[in-house]
Amino acid sequence: MADISLLKEKFLEQFAGEADGVHVFHAPGRVNLIGEHTDYNGGYVFPAALTFGTTLLIRKRDDRKLGLASTNFPAAQAFAIDEIAYDERDDWMNYPKGIVYTLKQQGIELQNGYDLLYHGEIPNGSGLSSSASIEVVTEFALLTLEKREIDKVKIALLAQKSENEFNGVNCGIMDQFAVANGKKDHAILLMCDTLDYDLVPFESGSYKLVIGNTNKRRGLVDSAYNERRRQCEQAVADLRAEHDNLTLLGQLSLEQFEASKHLIQDEVVLKRARHVVEEIDRVLQSMEALRRNDLERFGQLMNASHDSLRDLYEVTGDELDAMVDAARKVAGVLGSRMTGAGFGGCTVSLVHEDSIEAFIGQVGSEYNEKTGLQADFYVCSIGNGVEQLA
Ligand code: GLA
Repeated sequence: MADISLLKEKFLEQFAGEADGVHVFHAPGRVNLIGEHTDYNGGYVFPAALTFGTTLLIRKRDDRKLGLASTNFPAAQAFAIDEIAYDERDDWMNYPKGIVYTLKQQGIELQNGYDLLYHGEIPNGSGLSSSASIEVVTEFALLTLEKREIDKVKIALLAQKSENEFNGVNCGIMDQFAVANGKKDHAILLMCDTLDYDLVPFESGSYKLVIGNTNKRRGLVDSAYNERRRQCEQAVADLRAEHDNLTLLGQLSLEQFEASKHLIQDEVVLKRARHVVEEIDRVLQSMEALRRNDLERFGQLMNASHDSLRDLYEVTGDELDAMVDAARKVAGVLGSRMTGAGFGGCTVSLVHEDSIEAFIGQVGSEYNEKTGLQADFYVCSIGNGVEQLA
Protein backbone atom coordinates (compact mmCIF):
# COMPACT_ATOMS: atom_id res chain seq x y z
CA MET A 1 0.00 0.00 0.00
CA ALA A 2 1.24 3.46 -0.89
CA ASP A 3 2.51 5.95 1.71
CA ILE A 4 -0.54 8.18 2.06
CA SER A 5 1.11 11.09 3.91
CA LEU A 6 3.76 11.30 1.20
CA LEU A 7 1.04 11.28 -1.43
CA LYS A 8 -0.78 14.07 0.40
CA GLU A 9 2.39 16.16 0.24
CA LYS A 10 2.58 15.50 -3.48
CA PHE A 11 -1.06 16.43 -3.85
CA LEU A 12 -0.43 19.81 -2.22
CA GLU A 13 2.69 20.38 -4.33
CA GLN A 14 0.60 19.78 -7.40
CA PHE A 15 -2.63 21.55 -6.51
CA ALA A 16 -1.68 23.83 -3.54
CA GLY A 17 -4.28 24.66 -0.83
CA GLU A 18 -5.04 22.65 2.32
CA ALA A 19 -4.87 18.94 3.08
CA ASP A 20 -8.34 19.28 4.64
CA GLY A 21 -10.88 18.00 2.21
CA VAL A 22 -8.49 15.58 0.47
CA HIS A 23 -10.13 12.15 0.33
CA VAL A 24 -8.27 8.94 -0.42
CA PHE A 25 -9.54 5.97 -2.42
CA HIS A 26 -7.98 2.76 -3.69
CA ALA A 27 -8.82 0.28 -6.42
CA PRO A 28 -6.78 -2.87 -7.02
CA GLY A 29 -5.44 -4.53 -10.12
CA ARG A 30 -6.67 -8.03 -10.87
CA VAL A 31 -5.35 -11.44 -11.79
CA ASN A 32 -7.55 -13.97 -13.53
CA LEU A 33 -7.05 -17.47 -12.15
CA ILE A 34 -8.94 -19.35 -14.86
CA GLY A 35 -11.61 -18.62 -17.50
CA GLU A 36 -9.80 -16.63 -20.21
CA HIS A 37 -11.50 -15.04 -23.21
CA THR A 38 -14.80 -16.28 -21.88
CA ASP A 39 -16.23 -12.99 -20.55
CA TYR A 40 -17.33 -11.50 -23.87
CA ASN A 41 -18.74 -14.93 -24.74
CA GLY A 42 -21.08 -14.83 -21.75
CA GLY A 43 -19.19 -17.52 -19.85
CA TYR A 44 -17.56 -17.89 -16.43
CA VAL A 45 -14.41 -16.16 -15.25
CA PHE A 46 -12.58 -16.55 -11.93
CA PRO A 47 -10.53 -13.42 -11.21
CA ALA A 48 -9.26 -12.02 -7.92
CA ALA A 49 -8.34 -8.48 -6.86
CA LEU A 50 -4.69 -7.82 -6.01
CA THR A 51 -3.44 -5.94 -2.95
CA PHE A 52 -1.80 -3.33 -5.20
CA GLY A 53 -3.47 -1.03 -7.67
CA THR A 54 -4.26 2.66 -7.97
CA THR A 55 -4.47 5.10 -5.07
CA LEU A 56 -6.45 8.27 -5.76
CA LEU A 57 -6.34 11.52 -3.77
CA ILE A 58 -9.22 13.80 -4.62
CA ARG A 59 -10.50 17.20 -3.45
CA LYS A 60 -13.32 19.45 -4.60
CA ARG A 61 -12.45 22.66 -6.42
CA ASP A 62 -14.50 25.81 -6.96
CA ASP A 63 -14.79 25.83 -10.73
CA ARG A 64 -16.16 23.22 -13.15
CA LYS A 65 -12.78 21.73 -13.96
CA LEU A 66 -11.12 18.39 -13.57
CA GLY A 67 -7.46 18.73 -12.55
CA LEU A 68 -5.58 15.51 -13.34
CA ALA A 69 -2.09 14.56 -12.20
CA SER A 70 -0.17 11.34 -11.61
CA THR A 71 2.93 10.42 -9.67
CA ASN A 72 3.78 8.10 -12.59
CA PHE A 73 3.70 10.63 -15.43
CA PRO A 74 4.98 14.20 -15.62
CA ALA A 75 2.21 16.23 -17.24
CA ALA A 76 -0.71 17.58 -15.19
CA GLN A 77 -3.68 19.14 -16.90
CA ALA A 78 -7.07 20.69 -16.22
CA PHE A 79 -10.13 19.93 -18.33
CA ALA A 80 -13.45 21.77 -18.47
CA ILE A 81 -16.02 19.25 -17.25
CA ASP A 82 -18.59 20.39 -19.77
CA GLU A 83 -16.29 20.00 -22.77
CA ILE A 84 -14.73 16.60 -22.26
CA ALA A 85 -13.66 14.77 -25.41
CA TYR A 86 -11.24 11.96 -26.22
CA ASP A 87 -7.77 13.12 -27.27
CA GLU A 88 -5.03 10.60 -27.98
CA ARG A 89 -2.41 13.04 -26.66
CA ASP A 90 -4.02 12.95 -23.22
CA ASP A 91 -2.83 9.35 -22.84
CA TRP A 92 -3.87 7.83 -19.44
CA MET A 93 -6.02 10.89 -18.66
CA ASN A 94 -8.54 9.60 -21.18
CA TYR A 95 -9.56 7.00 -18.56
CA PRO A 96 -10.76 9.47 -15.90
CA LYS A 97 -12.09 11.77 -18.61
CA GLY A 98 -14.04 8.85 -20.04
CA ILE A 99 -15.66 8.19 -16.66
CA VAL A 100 -16.84 11.80 -16.28
CA TYR A 101 -18.12 11.77 -19.87
CA THR A 102 -19.92 8.44 -19.50
CA LEU A 103 -21.46 9.41 -16.15
CA LYS A 104 -22.91 12.49 -17.81
CA GLN A 105 -24.19 10.41 -20.71
CA GLN A 106 -26.00 8.25 -18.15
CA GLY A 107 -27.62 11.30 -16.55
CA ILE A 108 -25.14 11.77 -13.70
CA GLU A 109 -23.78 15.27 -14.11
CA LEU A 110 -21.08 16.32 -11.65
CA GLN A 111 -22.12 19.20 -9.39
CA ASN A 112 -18.50 20.06 -8.53
CA GLY A 113 -15.08 20.30 -10.08
CA TYR A 114 -12.27 18.16 -8.61
CA ASP A 115 -8.51 17.83 -8.42
CA LEU A 116 -7.29 14.27 -8.66
CA LEU A 117 -3.83 12.81 -8.06
CA TYR A 118 -3.28 9.19 -9.10
CA HIS A 119 -0.57 6.89 -7.84
CA GLY A 120 -0.37 3.66 -9.82
CA GLU A 121 1.43 0.55 -8.60
CA ILE A 122 0.45 -1.71 -11.50
CA PRO A 123 3.13 -1.89 -14.18
CA ASN A 124 1.68 -0.43 -17.39
CA GLY A 125 0.87 -2.87 -20.14
CA SER A 126 1.33 -5.82 -17.79
CA GLY A 127 -2.22 -7.08 -18.30
CA LEU A 128 -3.10 -6.65 -14.62
CA SER A 129 -5.82 -4.12 -15.46
CA SER A 130 -4.26 -0.78 -14.67
CA SER A 131 -6.85 0.95 -16.85
CA ALA A 132 -9.84 -0.71 -15.15
CA SER A 133 -8.29 0.21 -11.81
CA ILE A 134 -8.07 3.90 -12.79
CA GLU A 135 -11.61 3.89 -14.18
CA VAL A 136 -13.20 2.22 -11.19
CA VAL A 137 -11.40 4.26 -8.53
CA THR A 138 -12.36 7.46 -10.35
CA GLU A 139 -16.00 6.53 -10.68
CA PHE A 140 -16.29 5.28 -7.09
CA ALA A 141 -14.65 8.43 -5.70
CA LEU A 142 -16.78 10.81 -7.77
CA LEU A 143 -20.03 9.03 -6.91
CA THR A 144 -19.07 9.02 -3.22
CA LEU A 145 -18.21 12.72 -3.09
CA GLU A 146 -21.29 13.62 -5.13
CA LYS A 147 -23.36 11.55 -2.66
CA ARG A 148 -24.78 9.35 -5.39
CA GLU A 149 -25.89 5.72 -5.20
CA ILE A 150 -22.98 3.27 -4.87
CA ASP A 151 -23.69 -0.02 -6.61
CA LYS A 152 -20.47 -1.81 -7.50
CA VAL A 153 -22.01 -3.89 -10.27
CA LYS A 154 -23.33 -0.73 -11.93
CA ILE A 155 -19.95 0.93 -11.37
CA ALA A 156 -18.23 -1.90 -13.24
CA LEU A 157 -20.71 -1.75 -16.11
CA LEU A 158 -20.33 2.00 -16.55
CA ALA A 159 -16.53 1.73 -16.41
CA GLN A 160 -16.61 -0.97 -19.09
CA LYS A 161 -18.89 1.19 -21.23
CA SER A 162 -16.46 4.07 -20.86
CA GLU A 163 -13.51 1.89 -21.88
CA ASN A 164 -15.46 0.48 -24.85
CA GLU A 165 -16.99 3.69 -26.15
CA PHE A 166 -14.81 6.57 -24.96
CA ASN A 167 -11.45 4.80 -25.19
CA GLY A 168 -12.38 2.48 -28.05
CA VAL A 169 -11.14 -0.68 -26.32
CA ASN A 170 -13.54 -3.54 -26.89
CA CYS A 171 -12.96 -5.34 -23.54
CA GLY A 172 -15.42 -7.59 -21.71
CA ILE A 173 -16.70 -7.02 -18.15
CA MET A 174 -14.18 -9.12 -16.19
CA ASP A 175 -11.56 -6.51 -15.33
CA GLN A 176 -13.83 -3.72 -14.16
CA PHE A 177 -16.01 -6.21 -12.29
CA ALA A 178 -13.10 -7.76 -10.40
CA VAL A 179 -11.56 -4.40 -9.55
CA ALA A 180 -14.90 -3.15 -8.20
CA ASN A 181 -16.16 -6.25 -6.41
CA GLY A 182 -13.06 -8.09 -5.20
CA LYS A 183 -12.72 -9.20 -1.58
CA LYS A 184 -9.65 -10.02 0.49
CA ASP A 185 -8.73 -13.72 0.29
CA HIS A 186 -11.59 -14.45 -2.13
CA ALA A 187 -11.77 -15.01 -5.86
CA ILE A 188 -14.89 -14.12 -7.82
CA LEU A 189 -16.81 -16.71 -9.76
CA LEU A 190 -18.64 -14.48 -12.23
CA MET A 191 -21.17 -15.55 -14.83
CA CYS A 192 -20.63 -12.82 -17.41
CA ASP A 193 -23.96 -13.29 -19.19
CA THR A 194 -26.11 -12.59 -16.11
CA LEU A 195 -23.51 -10.96 -13.82
CA ASP A 196 -24.50 -13.38 -11.04
CA TYR A 197 -21.46 -13.91 -8.89
CA ASP A 198 -20.08 -15.73 -5.88
CA LEU A 199 -17.16 -14.74 -3.69
CA VAL A 200 -15.25 -17.98 -3.24
CA PRO A 201 -12.67 -18.22 -0.41
CA PHE A 202 -9.36 -18.96 -2.09
CA GLU A 203 -7.64 -21.10 0.50
CA SER A 204 -4.40 -22.30 -0.98
CA GLY A 205 -2.69 -23.29 2.28
CA SER A 206 1.04 -23.57 1.75
CA TYR A 207 0.68 -22.70 -1.93
CA LYS A 208 0.97 -19.13 -3.16
CA LEU A 209 -0.04 -17.37 -6.32
CA VAL A 210 3.02 -16.01 -8.07
CA ILE A 211 2.61 -13.54 -10.92
CA GLY A 212 5.38 -13.42 -13.50
CA ASN A 213 5.59 -10.32 -15.66
CA THR A 214 7.12 -11.10 -19.08
CA ASN A 215 7.76 -7.37 -19.57
CA LYS A 216 6.84 -7.94 -23.17
CA ARG A 217 4.67 -5.05 -24.32
CA ARG A 218 1.38 -6.36 -25.58
CA GLY A 219 1.70 -4.81 -29.02
CA LEU A 220 -0.66 -6.93 -31.08
CA VAL A 221 -3.27 -7.17 -28.45
CA ASP A 222 -6.02 -4.82 -29.71
CA SER A 223 -6.33 -6.06 -33.27
CA ALA A 224 -5.93 -9.72 -32.33
CA TYR A 225 -8.45 -9.33 -29.49
CA ASN A 226 -11.06 -7.89 -31.84
CA GLU A 227 -10.35 -10.63 -34.38
CA ARG A 228 -10.99 -13.29 -31.70
CA ARG A 229 -14.26 -11.62 -30.81
CA ARG A 230 -15.36 -11.66 -34.46
CA GLN A 231 -14.43 -15.33 -34.79
CA CYS A 232 -16.58 -16.18 -31.77
CA GLU A 233 -19.48 -14.26 -33.32
CA GLN A 234 -18.98 -16.22 -36.53
CA ALA A 235 -19.20 -19.48 -34.58
CA VAL A 236 -22.47 -18.32 -32.99
CA ALA A 237 -23.87 -17.39 -36.42
CA ASP A 238 -23.01 -20.87 -37.76
CA LEU A 239 -24.39 -22.68 -34.72
CA ARG A 240 -27.67 -20.82 -34.95
CA ALA A 241 -28.70 -23.19 -37.73
CA GLU A 242 -29.53 -25.63 -34.93
CA HIS A 243 -29.83 -23.29 -31.93
CA ASP A 244 -32.32 -20.55 -32.86
CA ASN A 245 -31.89 -18.35 -29.83
CA LEU A 246 -28.15 -18.63 -29.39
CA THR A 247 -26.50 -15.22 -28.93
CA LEU A 248 -23.29 -16.14 -27.09
CA LEU A 249 -21.05 -19.22 -27.17
CA GLY A 250 -21.25 -19.45 -23.39
CA GLN A 251 -24.90 -20.46 -23.64
CA LEU A 252 -23.89 -23.87 -25.08
CA SER A 253 -22.86 -26.79 -22.91
CA LEU A 254 -19.90 -28.89 -23.93
CA GLU A 255 -22.29 -31.68 -24.99
CA GLN A 256 -24.39 -29.35 -27.13
CA PHE A 257 -21.24 -28.03 -28.73
CA GLU A 258 -19.97 -31.52 -29.57
CA ALA A 259 -23.31 -32.36 -31.15
CA SER A 260 -23.41 -29.20 -33.30
CA LYS A 261 -19.79 -28.42 -34.08
CA HIS A 262 -20.14 -29.76 -37.65
CA LEU A 263 -22.07 -26.54 -38.38
CA ILE A 264 -18.90 -24.48 -38.02
CA GLN A 265 -17.31 -24.33 -41.47
CA ASP A 266 -14.03 -22.59 -40.82
CA GLU A 267 -11.36 -24.63 -39.06
CA VAL A 268 -9.87 -21.66 -37.23
CA VAL A 269 -13.30 -20.53 -36.02
CA LEU A 270 -13.91 -24.08 -34.79
CA LYS A 271 -10.70 -24.00 -32.74
CA ARG A 272 -11.64 -20.66 -31.19
CA ALA A 273 -15.12 -21.89 -30.28
CA ARG A 274 -13.76 -25.12 -28.81
CA HIS A 275 -11.45 -23.17 -26.56
CA VAL A 276 -14.30 -21.02 -25.26
CA VAL A 277 -16.70 -23.88 -24.54
CA GLU A 278 -14.03 -26.07 -22.93
CA GLU A 279 -12.58 -23.18 -20.94
CA ILE A 280 -15.98 -22.42 -19.42
CA ASP A 281 -16.26 -26.08 -18.48
CA ARG A 282 -12.79 -25.91 -16.92
CA VAL A 283 -13.88 -23.03 -14.69
CA LEU A 284 -16.72 -25.17 -13.36
CA GLN A 285 -14.39 -28.13 -12.85
CA SER A 286 -11.98 -25.90 -11.00
CA MET A 287 -14.79 -24.88 -8.61
CA GLU A 288 -15.38 -28.54 -7.81
CA ALA A 289 -11.66 -29.02 -7.26
CA LEU A 290 -11.56 -26.09 -4.84
CA ARG A 291 -14.59 -27.42 -2.97
CA ARG A 292 -12.67 -30.69 -2.43
CA ASN A 293 -9.58 -28.66 -1.57
CA ASP A 294 -7.86 -30.44 -4.46
CA LEU A 295 -5.25 -27.87 -5.43
CA GLU A 296 -3.41 -30.37 -7.57
CA ARG A 297 -6.44 -30.66 -9.83
CA PHE A 298 -6.84 -26.89 -9.83
CA GLY A 299 -3.25 -26.61 -11.04
CA GLN A 300 -3.83 -29.16 -13.82
CA LEU A 301 -6.80 -27.12 -15.00
CA MET A 302 -4.66 -23.97 -15.03
CA ASN A 303 -2.18 -25.84 -17.23
CA ALA A 304 -4.92 -27.06 -19.55
CA SER A 305 -6.23 -23.50 -19.81
CA HIS A 306 -2.85 -22.19 -20.94
CA ASP A 307 -2.36 -25.01 -23.42
CA SER A 308 -5.74 -24.29 -24.97
CA LEU A 309 -4.98 -20.55 -25.17
CA ARG A 310 -1.72 -21.50 -26.89
CA ASP A 311 -3.00 -24.15 -29.31
CA LEU A 312 -6.65 -23.33 -29.96
CA TYR A 313 -7.14 -19.65 -29.19
CA GLU A 314 -3.54 -18.75 -30.19
CA VAL A 315 -3.09 -15.74 -27.93
CA THR A 316 -0.02 -16.71 -25.90
CA GLY A 317 3.13 -15.98 -27.93
CA ASP A 318 6.76 -16.99 -27.36
CA GLU A 319 7.33 -15.01 -24.16
CA LEU A 320 4.32 -16.30 -22.23
CA ASP A 321 4.98 -19.84 -23.45
CA ALA A 322 8.64 -19.66 -22.43
CA MET A 323 7.75 -18.43 -18.96
CA VAL A 324 5.06 -21.07 -18.45
CA ASP A 325 7.35 -23.86 -19.72
CA ALA A 326 10.07 -22.78 -17.31
CA ALA A 327 7.59 -22.54 -14.42
CA ARG A 328 6.25 -26.04 -14.93
CA LYS A 329 9.76 -27.50 -14.59
CA VAL A 330 10.16 -26.22 -11.03
CA ALA A 331 9.37 -28.70 -8.25
CA GLY A 332 6.50 -27.47 -6.09
CA VAL A 333 4.59 -25.85 -8.97
CA LEU A 334 1.04 -27.18 -9.33
CA GLY A 335 0.09 -25.15 -12.40
CA SER A 336 1.05 -22.18 -14.53
CA ARG A 337 -0.78 -20.18 -17.17
CA MET A 338 -1.03 -16.81 -18.87
CA THR A 339 -3.53 -14.37 -17.39
CA GLY A 340 -5.46 -11.59 -19.14
CA ALA A 341 -5.70 -10.94 -22.86
CA GLY A 342 -2.38 -12.56 -23.82
CA PHE A 343 0.40 -11.68 -26.33
CA GLY A 344 2.64 -10.66 -23.44
CA GLY A 345 1.71 -9.41 -20.01
CA CYS A 346 1.73 -11.84 -17.10
CA THR A 347 1.58 -15.47 -16.08
CA VAL A 348 0.12 -16.78 -12.83
CA SER A 349 1.44 -19.91 -11.13
CA LEU A 350 0.49 -21.86 -8.05
CA VAL A 351 3.76 -22.46 -6.19
CA HIS A 352 4.59 -24.13 -2.87
CA GLU A 353 5.85 -21.53 -0.42
CA ASP A 354 9.13 -23.42 0.08
CA SER A 355 9.79 -23.30 -3.67
CA ILE A 356 9.22 -19.62 -4.30
CA GLU A 357 12.86 -18.60 -4.17
CA ALA A 358 13.88 -21.42 -6.49
CA PHE A 359 10.95 -20.57 -8.73
CA ILE A 360 11.93 -16.93 -9.13
CA GLY A 361 15.57 -17.85 -9.72
CA GLN A 362 15.01 -20.66 -12.20
CA VAL A 363 12.13 -19.17 -14.15
CA GLY A 364 13.83 -15.78 -14.29
CA SER A 365 17.07 -17.17 -15.73
CA GLU A 366 15.54 -19.66 -18.16
CA TYR A 367 13.14 -16.99 -19.39
CA ASN A 368 16.00 -14.54 -19.86
CA GLU A 369 18.07 -17.11 -21.77
CA LYS A 370 15.19 -17.85 -24.14
CA THR A 371 13.87 -14.35 -24.74
CA GLY A 372 16.58 -11.91 -23.72
CA LEU A 373 14.01 -10.20 -21.48
CA GLN A 374 14.14 -9.64 -17.74
CA ALA A 375 11.10 -10.96 -15.87
CA ASP A 376 9.58 -9.52 -12.68
CA PHE A 377 7.79 -11.58 -10.07
CA TYR A 378 5.17 -10.70 -7.47
CA VAL A 379 4.10 -13.15 -4.78
CA CYS A 380 0.52 -12.10 -4.58
CA SER A 381 -2.11 -11.86 -1.91
CA ILE A 382 -5.74 -11.29 -2.77
CA GLY A 383 -7.02 -7.88 -1.72
CA ASN A 384 -10.25 -5.87 -1.60
CA GLY A 385 -12.10 -4.25 -4.45
CA VAL A 386 -12.46 -0.48 -4.66
CA GLU A 387 -12.77 1.29 -1.30
CA GLN A 388 -12.33 4.58 0.50
CA LEU A 389 -9.32 4.68 2.80
CA ALA A 390 -9.58 6.33 6.20
C1 GLA B 1 -8.69 -8.54 -21.25
C2 GLA B 1 -10.10 -7.95 -21.29
C3 GLA B 1 -11.08 -8.81 -20.49
C4 GLA B 1 -10.99 -10.28 -20.92
C5 GLA B 1 -9.54 -10.75 -20.95
C6 GLA B 1 -9.40 -12.13 -21.52
O1 GLA B 1 -8.20 -8.49 -19.94
O2 GLA B 1 -10.09 -6.64 -20.78
O3 GLA B 1 -12.38 -8.31 -20.64
O4 GLA B 1 -11.61 -10.47 -22.15
O5 GLA B 1 -8.71 -9.87 -21.71
O6 GLA B 1 -9.98 -13.09 -20.69
